[in-house]
Amino acid sequence: IREKAIAEIEGSDGLERLNEVRQAVLGKKGELTAVLKGMKDVAPEDRPKVGQWVNDTRSAIETILEEKMKKLEADALKKRYEAEKIDVTMPAVKHEKGNMHPVTQVRNQLIDIFASMGFEVYEGTEIETDYYNFTALNTPQDHPARDMQDTFYLSPEFLLRTQTSAGQIHVMEAKKPPIKIISPGKVFRSDDDATHSPMFTQMEGLVVDKGITLCDLKGMLDELVKKIFGKETTTRLRPSYFPFTEPSVEVDVSCFQCGGCGCKLCKGTGWIEVLGAGVVNNKVLEGCGIDTNEYSGFAFGIGIERIAMLKYGINNIKLLFESDMRVLKQIDD
Ligand code: PHE
Repeated sequence: IREKAIAEIEGSDGLERLNEVRQAVLGKKGELTAVLKGMKDVAPEDRPKVGQWVNDTRSAIETILEEKMKKLEADALKKRYEAEKIDVTMPAVKHEKGNMHPVTQVRNQLIDIFASMGFEVYEGTEIETDYYNFTALNTPQDHPARDMQDTFYLSPEFLLRTQTSAGQIHVMEAKKPPIKIISPGKVFRSDDDATHSPMFTQMEGLVVDKGITLCDLKGMLDELVKKIFGKETTTRLRPSYFPFTEPSVEVDVSCFQCGGCGCKLCKGTGWIEVLGAGVVNNKVLEGCGIDTNEYSGFAFGIGIERIAMLKYGINNIKLLFESDMRVLKQIDD
């Protein structure tokens, strides 16, 4: 038994096989255990001798088993270390650093600037009703100004909003003045050329309070453009038309590239058009149940891609939506 067990232990190549050998010899049904069970058939005077022999054999086998087990474990550990070895002199795997999309960057910068002026953010919905996008903004069904924005209709009632101005109405319906909100989001128009995309991003602004005038708008815009384009930048208001503001203005900034003497960016004029704005039309305020004897307001709508294109010198709006990493990676403020 002893010789055979020792040979089998020595020949074991893994812990599992070793366990099998242990069971076969020392287990409940093992060979050595069988000898013990057979004690009753041994003559009483021989029993101590046989008992002694069984004990010696057991402890000898156990010692060898123990040694073999330790050796196998050490081998396994060595193999694992070998496999997990790290060469610290190897060059590290490079992790690419991502950056925010330029439109998101400008959007966040604008939100920061407006937040510092006390504006709250209202997020509207991209699907709107004809009422909120047009009618409530003093642009009824047959109004010629509807032609200014080529609209994607989803049904006679629903459409993809053409302007974040739709949010003005939601805010004024839900809240009493004083109101001071911005509303950033995607808008949709059936337009497609180098400076127009069927989907683009606007940021609406609306302030309604006692005694708000066009001067407040101009003062706020001056602050805003200095923060976006630099301290030297000023604004100029030109008369314009939007059904929901009266008077309406187109806002130009002095060219931050040439300082106003005329360059390619401002087409030699020294001014760049950046947004539309105006004093909120009384009809719009009244439609939202706001007393125009007490309150007045101003509103503006900024095209975020337009600001991004100016800021980063991008000449085609498509570059912002093609997801070409070579372009997007260059723009990280
Ligand atoms: N909604 C207008 C546009 O998309 C911009 C605007 C907003 C004008 C608010 C005046 C006041 O062109």
